[in-house]
Amino acid sequence: MPNSFTVHENSPLQPIKCDLLTAKKLFLTVKRDDLLHPLISGNKWRKLKYNLAQMKARNKTELLTFGGAFSNHIHACAAAGHYFNIKTHGIIRGPHLDANNPTLQFAQQYGMQLHPVTRVEYQQRDNANYIAALQARFPNAYILPEGGTNQFALAGCAELAQSLPKHDYLICPTGSGGTLAGLIEGSPASTQVLGVAVLKQADYLREHITALSAKAAQQSNWHLLCDFHDGGYGKFSADLWQFCQHMSTQHHLPLEPIYSGKMMYALWQLIAQDYFAPGSKIIALHTGGLQGLAGLKYRKVI
Ligand SMILES: Cc1ncc(COP(=O)(O)O)c(C=O)c1O
Repeated sequence: MPNSFTVHENSPLQPIKCDLLTAKKLFLTVKRDDLLHPLISGNKWRKLKYNLAQMKARNKTELLTFGGAFSNHIHACAAAGHYFNIKTHGIIRGPHLDANNPTLQFAQQYGMQLHPVTRVEYQQRDNANYIAALQARFPNAYILPEGGTNQFALAGCAELAQSLPKHDYLICPTGSGGTLAGLIEGSPASTQVLGVAVLKQADYLREHITALSAKAAQQSNWHLLCDFHDGGYGKFSADLWQFCQHMSTQHHLPLEPIYSGKMMYALWQLIAQDYFAPGSKIIALHTGGLQGLAGLKYRKVI
């Protein structure tokens, strides 16, 4: 088991070719961060990287975090705990644990101790007094917010943006806004950074993003696109799911409909609407999350 907190970070860049892109004279590449690591993939690793370094710097030996029953973040933290030999705790939005839920089963198999809490208690996850009480209960734990978003998460996402070849647009799915904020931090002012909000009524996130990133507060080279939620968080139309399957078979690009698929579907609509000037180079960030497909199948949603 490795004792330093690293994974190989040079995930592939996959060019996409199709008639629509040719007709619109656009160059699209997908940054396949879903392939970063078989289990700690996508933005989860990018956000964890400098948090794990902080954990070590603060002499903490355990990782405690929060998530829903199908959370990609819980899945990735459990895997990271296993690979890096860190005890992990998951405060799970309950009130009960479903023993057959594939994400929770995985988390337990990879050594995460699951602590189900009521929905009311879960709502306190960012409350300072609640966090202080958790810290007293788990004194060795480094406490990471839900989704892994904090200032240290931004550094990993900024580093990813800096590693990319020259491009005009960088697009990613947006949940809490941490990934988008980090990409803005790491991008030159000449790049337009686009976040596709995967939840309904996400306009409030703009304030959150500018609070997280000084660059986002100062610069206008980024946009949060709030019209592509397709019904809200975790919801998606039959057309969106069909699009995901088409991308998988035609372009060998596996997508799930909650994050990466929603972003790519939005991108296709933007391309059709001539959002991008001919000749533009676009990079779409695949943020992983493919483990979520098992949960959707389990719930018989796909
Ligand atoms: C696969 C995947 N992509 C994108 C996101 C959204 O990232 P953020 O919360 O940083 O906006 C998440 C949630 O954290 C996710 O699990």
